[in-house]
Amino acid sequence: MSGNFADQSAYSTSGMQGRRRGKHMRSNSEGIVTSNAQPIGDVYISDISISPTTELRLLEAREDERRQIARDLHDVTAQLLLELEFALNTINNDDGPLANRAMVSAHDVISKLQSQVRCVSYLLHPPELSRYGLERTLESLALGMSERSGIAINFRSRGYRNDIPSETQMTMLRIAQEALMNIFKHSQSDHAEFHLYCNCNWICMRIRDFGIGSRAKAAIESGKGVGLASMRERVASLGGVIYVRAMERGTAVTAFSPLSSNRAGLPRSKPQLVRVQ
Ligand SMILES: Nc1ncnc2c1ncn2[C@@H]1O[C@H](COP(=O)(O)OP(=O)(O)O)[C@@H](O)[C@H]1O
Ligand SMILES: [Mg+2]
Repeated sequence: MSGNFADQSAYSTSGMQGRRRGKHMRSNSEGIVTSNAQPIGDVYISDISISPTTELRLLEAREDERRQIARDLHDVTAQLLLELEFALNTINNDDGPLANRAMVSAHDVISKLQSQVRCVSYLLHPPELSRYGLERTLESLALGMSERSGIAINFRSRGYRNDIPSETQMTMLRIAQEALMNIFKHSQSDHAEFHLYCNCNWICMRIRDFGIGSRAKAAIESGKGVGLASMRERVASLGGVIYVRAMERGTAVTAFSPLSSNRAGLPRSKPQLVRVQ
């Protein structure tokens, strides 16, 4: 448990009401939870609802993802290259203080470019799932991303099981890549949390940052972004759900997928969310 229930973004279950620093809790739209709720990061979770989706939508989502990769490669570099060109032109045409400033700016742009290329290429080629399994792969992804981006990422895992279907593992990895890419590209956060939690019914992954989420609320919750949409498609194809929320401090992506025992027909509870006030 992250222990940050004093934070505005902390959530809990109605079953936990009153046990947490005497705070009052009520439901809102993010959540999930029933009496068997378990803490993961700053929320509590329980069983998930299953919603079918079509193979076609999944294929479309994958196509969109490819287009997005191309756009990411373009976006992260094009703007900076333009700045670099501008700085070099200034250095060419001036030999006074302007040129000195342009030189500093050129070095700054180059180091940003290096960091962006390292982060984007790393996220596109994550550690091998088949070799390390999901838990170690995600941990290594978080660590590798942290080293390359300078964003401190705290990884925690509880209840990991070795029988998670490979399709589920792949989906969780793709979601983690996109969520980390978003933190790097958009959040302006200098730290993040990455929690993985499994029980006999489901696997849950929660990745949150502490950046400009509230300012990006409209973009995040509009449902128009390709990256966020493809996360939804992927997890829905497994019968899972995903919640992406812009909070007062940062953004949280929480993805759930049922495990085989849940798919086999155990009673499922309807998702509901309760938030610590
Ligand atoms: N962690 C985040 N912090 C701040 N804003 C975010 C974050 N994640 C997503 N966003 C916002 O949501 C938008 C949609 O995200 P996404 O679907 O991944 O598209 P893309 O990353 O290609 O812009 C982003 O353009 C950005 O404005
Ligand atoms: Mg994105």
